[in-house]
Amino acid sequence: MIIMPLNATKPVYQDNSQPIEKRVEDALQRMTLEEKVKLCTAQSKFSSHGVPRLGIPEVWMSDGPHGVRAEIEWNSWSHARWTNDSSTAFPALTCLAATFNPSLAHDYGVAVGEEARYRRKDILLGPGVNIYRTPLNGRNFEYMGEDPLLASRMAVPYIQGVQQNGVAACVKHFALNNQEEWRGHINVNVSDRALYEIYLPAFKASVEDAKVWSVMGAYNQFRGQHCCHNDLLLNKILKQDWKFDGVVVTDWGGAHDTRQAALNGLDIEMGSYTNGLTSEAEFGYNDYFLADPFLALLRKGELPVSVVDEKARRILRLIFRTAMNAERPFGRYVCADHSATALRVAEEGIVLLKNRHNLLPVQPGKYKRIAVIGENATKNLTEGGGSSELKVKYQVSPLEGLQKTYGAESIVHAMGYSSGPSVYGRVEEPAEDQQKLFDEAIEVARNAEIVFFVGGLNKNHYQDCEGGDRQQFGLPFNQEKLISEILKVNKNLVLVLVSGNAVAMPWEKELPAIVQTWYLGSESGNAIANVLSGKVNPSGKLPFSFPVKLTDNAAHSFGALSYPGDSINQHYKEDILVGYRWHDTKKIKPLFAFGHGLSYSKYEYGKITTDKKSYTKEEVIKLTFTLKNTGSVDGAEAVQIYSSQPRASVLRPQKELKAFEKIQLKAGETKTVEIAVNVKDLAFYNDKTQSWDVEAGEFIISNAASAGDVKSSVKILIR
Ligand code: GLC
Repeated sequence: MIIMPLNATKPVYQDNSQPIEKRVEDALQRMTLEEKVKLCTAQSKFSSHGVPRLGIPEVWMSDGPHGVRAEIEWNSWSHARWTNDSSTAFPALTCLAATFNPSLAHDYGVAVGEEARYRRKDILLGPGVNIYRTPLNGRNFEYMGEDPLLASRMAVPYIQGVQQNGVAACVKHFALNNQEEWRGHINVNVSDRALYEIYLPAFKASVEDAKVWSVMGAYNQFRGQHCCHNDLLLNKILKQDWKFDGVVVTDWGGAHDTRQAALNGLDIEMGSYTNGLTSEAEFGYNDYFLADPFLALLRKGELPVSVVDEKARRILRLIFRTAMNAERPFGRYVCADHSATALRVAEEGIVLLKNRHNLLPVQPGKYKRIAVIGENATKNLTEGGGSSELKVKYQVSPLEGLQKTYGAESIVHAMGYSSGPSVYGRVEEPAEDQQKLFDEAIEVARNAEIVFFVGGLNKNHYQDCEGGDRQQFGLPFNQEKLISEILKVNKNLVLVLVSGNAVAMPWEKELPAIVQTWYLGSESGNAIANVLSGKVNPSGKLPFSFPVKLTDNAAHSFGALSYPGDSINQHYKEDILVGYRWHDTKKIKPLFAFGHGLSYSKYEYGKITTDKKSYTKEEVIKLTFTLKNTGSVDGAEAVQIYSSQPRASVLRPQKELKAFEKIQLKAGETKTVEIAVNVKDLAFYNDKTQSWDVEAGEFIISNAASAGDVKSSVKILIR
């Protein structure tokens, strides 16, 4: 047994007081070629090698963006069936985006990071920031909507919150993974302008502003190269232009070629199907592209050692920031503070889409016969959905939350439909008699004073779920017909949508109230009940547009090659006109606009003014306007600032979000809102000069309650 003499000096790499870069170089020069190569690949489903001889630990990773996933078996996708790995389920990131509240995003990151730290994870595989391009994408619920500025401003504090726990966040999926259909190989083609103006900004902000410590390559291809080893995306843009100093991890099974993996910016290969020809061979970790095949090329001198040194440096840097950071906190797990954060995000993310005649809020006690209809009132929506699934310590269902608030004796629940179990990768028919459920629901609705229809999508395959896209824009499981029939027997119908995507609403005009709730996690029922009852004044706003019909959406306006592609290639033909950019520019009115969200209060916007009439390109525009809460309850309003350039030399969207801020206002209170926008942020990406340009001339700056509700505008001149 070796006992270190007390006076032995620690090797530099083990000395936490040493600068990380010195520790990296000290460790690197002690390592053999084989040990460096080992760092670059998985040793199990969710861990990669350390250096046992030097006491450099393995890197442990876990999903996901909404909470720490249950422990997975060493070499399978199955749960390891531990008994101490049930976690807090935080709301889906689309809900977080809907809060339009960056400080809440930080609280969220801190809480989920504490749980990851407590579970001894070094990388938490989130956030996902892929842009919402089509309402059919199975994973939109995991992401932050259609606007690059919103996604950027909400991802940065989340990442900072996670990483202050000494856990690396892993912003994903880099890049252009905007659908699940053919995700493993579809070759996405998009213009440079759309790439830089729409699809990269949230990743760029994560790297440059949040200093994210890891990035996950996407499964798909971009301009003919797999994103997990893509020279343009990883070497040029991420590591050279953005100066990313962290680790690029594959998505699980995203590596396909040793030389490309070696030379095109990949650092750690995870989840590969071993020899690349067949599905997972038993413990074929040495067959990984960056394992023995990589070592062989290095030994033969076909690749310089500098290639593996570059990877090893990055991985060591991550290890010294996490597992070997002796200063990092110890985390916390499933505690009241985390539940409180989950509840606040859920409450602030719920969006009141419609509230005719102020049907809502429904004060407890007002009705004695309340119908709660819909499977989503009781279905477990923290499981399923793919890798963001969670094994929760507890969760409050919408039905339980409503029963707690209104009294169980006042509520009758009818499922109305059933969808079958959430099984990854396939649809299992439900066992129940659908007609019987349907008829029972109509009867319950007929005899009620008010109906809360808690439906929407779910985490089943082909719904809001990884691995497949939705097959229809309308509500599944016969809900459209059920809602129509309920309306015939009871007009007092509040539609409570639980989903991560827009859906068709053919009966919207007949509905007095619509509430968009999300996958809200452990506190779902409490948040929904608190908003419906008025205990909480809703303040969420839509992070994506709700088109009336699918073909009103940009991606679905250019045929199959635009979505889902021809199974080999895909062209994002709408280019920069994604979401409200399309609706505004093509004058296609959405059902509900990006940024839309009502309150139980009303807000009066004053005219927007600027501190000057003209600006140089280096200056900052100081915007001012008053905002008054003319309602009778305290509330919060996410004000939005959009810019337009009416006479640009290139096509530009009719307007683009340039700032937002959530303003808390007491009933009757007026505040003066002051928001600054850098002139350089009005730029467009000039694909001719590969630079960002602000053209001299007239711009229009507007304040708005949503992309569909501009309150006032002011002209400025850029000289
Ligand atoms: C999945 C997902 C990715 C996840 C990873 C590990 O396929 O695409 O988001 O983090 O594999 O589960």
